[in-house]
Amino acid sequence: MQIKPSVLITGASSGIGATYANRFAKRGHSLVLVARNKSRLETLASSLRQENDINVDILQADLTQPEDIAKIETRLQADRKIEILVNNAGAGLAGNFEQQSLDDITQLIILNSLTVVRLARAISPRLVEKGSGAIINVGSVVGLVPEFGQTVYGATKAFVLYLSQGLSFELLPKGVYVQAVLPAATRTEIWERAGADLNNLPPLMDVGELVDAALVGFDRKEAISIPPLPDISQWDSYQAARLAMIPGFANNHAAKRYLEG
Ligand SMILES: NC(=O)c1ccc[n+]([C@@H]2O[C@H](COP(=O)([O-])OP(=O)(O)OC[C@H]3O[C@@H](n4cnc5c(N)ncnc54)[C@H](OP(=O)(O)O)[C@@H]3O)[C@@H](O)[C@H]2O)c1
Repeated sequence: MQIKPSVLITGASSGIGATYANRFAKRGHSLVLVARNKSRLETLASSLRQENDINVDILQADLTQPEDIAKIETRLQADRKIEILVNNAGAGLAGNFEQQSLDDITQLIILNSLTVVRLARAISPRLVEKGSGAIINVGSVVGLVPEFGQTVYGATKAFVLYLSQGLSFELLPKGVYVQAVLPAATRTEIWERAGADLNNLPPLMDVGELVDAALVGFDRKEAISIPPLPDISQWDSYQAARLAMIPGFANNHAAKRYLEG
């Protein structure tokens, strides 16, 4: 029997990451689970080992800290069994832009954006060399909607979408599949952690439903999966409008509207 590749999942101690761990375990993949909360990771790992015939390692790491990020990078570079990376760890940020502290903003950008790039960069050379493997980046529909007023969080997720599209463009021809998953409001701890008022929450999707849909997209090799979006032709039109602008970007003169006083 062919051994399935191992999957490294960040933010695996709760919510979407823990659900990915559960689903990949059921598919027979061994796992490397990453998060800060070691006891939660241990509890999850031991139940996954019991229920499935797989290995589960845990790595405690705070993915805002350079030395901890480096620890995960080293594992991704060295462990040839890992062929799937789920870049899922992330957080939100309460309050309005002018009230958020620069420290909190900086930490959020490191966790939600910089770490995602660093881990993708750590595993990519190996996957390209092998000509197979996958990177799943968990973004958010908030990255498409500045009007939600979650500006810095949304900007980190717009970064994840762009990064995923760019990586897909570069790596897919080399055999490496990259998927951006864009959840909308999903029932996890992220809301309370970010200090959201639970009474003001929108209707939330069940986390199992979200991850199962994302995995359907994964199996279909979708570049972008948006589980809650009913009409995918809207996304296709959005992409087509973006691509249609490219010839215009090549003009070497300012557009007429700027030349008329
Ligand atoms: N839930 C939603 O409505 C929603 C919607 C769109 C996108 N998303 C995205 O989905 C991803 C997962 O979020 P979730 O909803 O599942 O929330 P969650 O239940 O709060 O899970 C977040 C995970 O990230 C880990 N994490 C947080 N800060 C970390 C740090 N500094 N270092 C290492 N790990 C850290 C947490 O573990 P520890 O605390 O143990 O470190 C936890 O495992 C995030 O990227 C989020 O932006 C969520």
